[in-house]
Amino acid sequence: MIQIPKGTKDVLPSQVHKWQFVEKTARETAELFAFREIRTPVFEHTELFARGVGDTTDIVTKEMYTFLDKGNRSVTLKPEGTAGVARSFIENGMAGGVLPAKMYYLIPAFRYERPQAGRLREFHQFGVELYGAADPAADAETITLADLFLKKLGLKQVRLELNSIGCKHCRAKYNEALKEYFRPHLAEMCPDCNARFEKNPMRIIDCKEEGCRRFTAGAPRMLDYLCDDCKAHFEEVKALLARAGVAYEINPSIVRGLDYYSRTVFEFVTSAAGAQGTVCGGGRYDSLIEQMGEKPVPAVGFAAGMERLLMVMEAEGAPMPEPSGTVCYLAGMDGASRAKAFELATMLRAKGIACECDLMGRSVKAQFKYADKSGAKFVAVIGGSELEEGAVSLKNMATSSSEKVAFADLADYLSSNGAN
Ligand code: HAM
Repeated sequence: MIQIPKGTKDVLPSQVHKWQFVEKTARETAELFAFREIRTPVFEHTELFARGVGDTTDIVTKEMYTFLDKGNRSVTLKPEGTAGVARSFIENGMAGGVLPAKMYYLIPAFRYERPQAGRLREFHQFGVELYGAADPAADAETITLADLFLKKLGLKQVRLELNSIGCKHCRAKYNEALKEYFRPHLAEMCPDCNARFEKNPMRIIDCKEEGCRRFTAGAPRMLDYLCDDCKAHFEEVKALLARAGVAYEINPSIVRGLDYYSRTVFEFVTSAAGAQGTVCGGGRYDSLIEQMGEKPVPAVGFAAGMERLLMVMEAEGAPMPEPSGTVCYLAGMDGASRAKAFELATMLRAKGIACECDLMGRSVKAQFKYADKSGAKFVAVIGGSELEEGAVSLKNMATSSSEKVAFADLADYLSSNGAN
């Protein structure tokens, strides 16, 4: 038997209502803040991610699903959503349109990682990107959106961790300090960190190797190197979050795993569901558009991992809506009444009432059993006498009471008795 690829998952019909609930909550929350959905391709030119996400990141150096297409072009399944949206922002001339440009997306993303609970090779993100606003209010609004989204999902044990990684000017000084600090330890650090030391020393802070973590704990903190402008920006973000009643903790070791960030970075974390505790991450990225060869446009955004959110909701026992069942099952006793059941089902569906009738040639008893299992609220039985009377015998499955309802009145009856 051909099996599902490692690190991927099916979402079965019995579980899909949970996904739909999270997706609906995501859309509703984003739209409350006047963000509009953007849809970009699942694959892009590889070059976009090398330049956009950064060629010193684990994502680009180790994790991308890259292949040559039949025209010998190198393409990559998107490992995240930001670079594709940035490409679209540029290509569609959005900098010349209404700003800020506020966009959200629900996407599959692909990273060749070692799979474990909450870490997949195909996973799904809800993300938002806001272009054109350098103001700290844009950072605060984006974070507030994420906070409201998580609250609406009923999550109570998720904490917001906040940091600032400064701008290219203050970061240059910080990188020097980091180099000075790490230089004597380089021989004991992993080959990746040795490469990071040259290209992007701040990336060392994010190393997961035990050998390197011994040194990162005591490393200089970016917060101590912020220039006056970055410091003032960060203070204002914190003040606005306080005004919005969004609680946060400062975590100076958040540097994020992608290269495009500047100033505010944040993660929503929890220990409710094992090792993969970051359910949402993001920050400001004022130099990405410039890095892609355009005039700079300030930007801020985040992405939340859907699989992780669902895991944490499960672990926290967050209330989940029930899957919606059919309203009415139409059971026919013989040929003529089955045909009537089919006709009535067509009429009910046209009026927006979810219903089913038998497709398996089952006995009435077996049809009842199926209707019960499928969670139908009503069963409308049709036999010879019902055909003569022009009315179904309608059984309310919750109360077991039955009554006759004329064919012509069935839709109205079901609508006013909990059909929708
Ligand atoms: P990221 O931190 O790489 O950021 O991913 C965001 C979220 O996606 C993570 O917090 C996590 O919940 C989820 N995630 C990442 N990798 C996996 C995986 N292998 N399996 C399951 N879930 C995963 C970004 O992707 C940035 N584009 C976020 C952003 C948007 N920054 C600014 N705008």
